[in-house]
Amino acid sequence: GTPASKSDVMVTLTIDGFAVTVPEGTSVMRAAAEAGVQVPKLCATDSLEAFGSCRLCVVEIEGRRGTPASCTTPVSDGMAVHTQSDKVRKIRKGVMELYISDHPLDCLTCAANGDCELQDMAGAVGLRDVRYEAPEGAGLANHFAARDTSGQANPEYLPKDDSNPYFTYDPAKCIVCNRCVRACEEVQGTFALTIDGRGFDSRVSAGAFSDDFLNSDCVSCGACVQACPTATLQEKSVIEMGTPDRSVVTTCAYCGVGCSFKAE
Ligand code: FES
Repeated sequence: GTPASKSDVMVTLTIDGFAVTVPEGTSVMRAAAEAGVQVPKLCATDSLEAFGSCRLCVVEIEGRRGTPASCTTPVSDGMAVHTQSDKVRKIRKGVMELYISDHPLDCLTCAANGDCELQDMAGAVGLRDVRYEAPEGAGLANHFAARDTSGQANPEYLPKDDSNPYFTYDPAKCIVCNRCVRACEEVQGTFALTIDGRGFDSRVSAGAFSDDFLNSDCVSCGACVQACPTATLQEKSVIEMGTPDRSVVTTCAYCGVGCSFKAE
């Protein structure tokens, strides 16, 4: 869930009653994984620095108030963590309902269908129906409402950015997890992406508000596309030919991201 800690000092804690010993500085989420417990997550990955924005990974820790995000909370010796209490399950479900309420419901025709972490996590938290509607007048909500059932967006609202020759950017599907922004910075060392706006109107931007990917500092390395948990950043080849069934991790000096391909 989060990058490994390099500390030599070990600490022991329990996750849902299972004892686990990990290096000091390890996140609770990673310690849970070591103990065989997968905490739901959307914004954390094994390689990017934890960001703590999606709030799906909340846990309860004995003796502490509130429900901290397990991806940004470091372990401490003797800690007793509960990842499946009624309280955290309810919070996760509520968080997921909010995401889905602002997301086009075109899964069946979406290029990421079957390879979408939002879809996977909705299932993981037991979401079967959605109780909220996005607020009137919100930018992404308008975009969402303006879609027909095939997922086609009304061009009046935040159109897809097709300017990059290799991938598309569809702001309506963005959950603002920041993984693309962090990948751009941490994997590629480029600072082409930022988050613009707030709340329902926030979205990833390739530089200035009106800028597109082609005219940004983006070098088309693909790190952002690989990091994206939804179909917001999607390879054009996947849209045309479907999800690749093989991928290779390379040490290519240019991008280091690795390549995916579809076998004939
Ligand atoms: Fe921890 Fe998103 S995975 S807040």
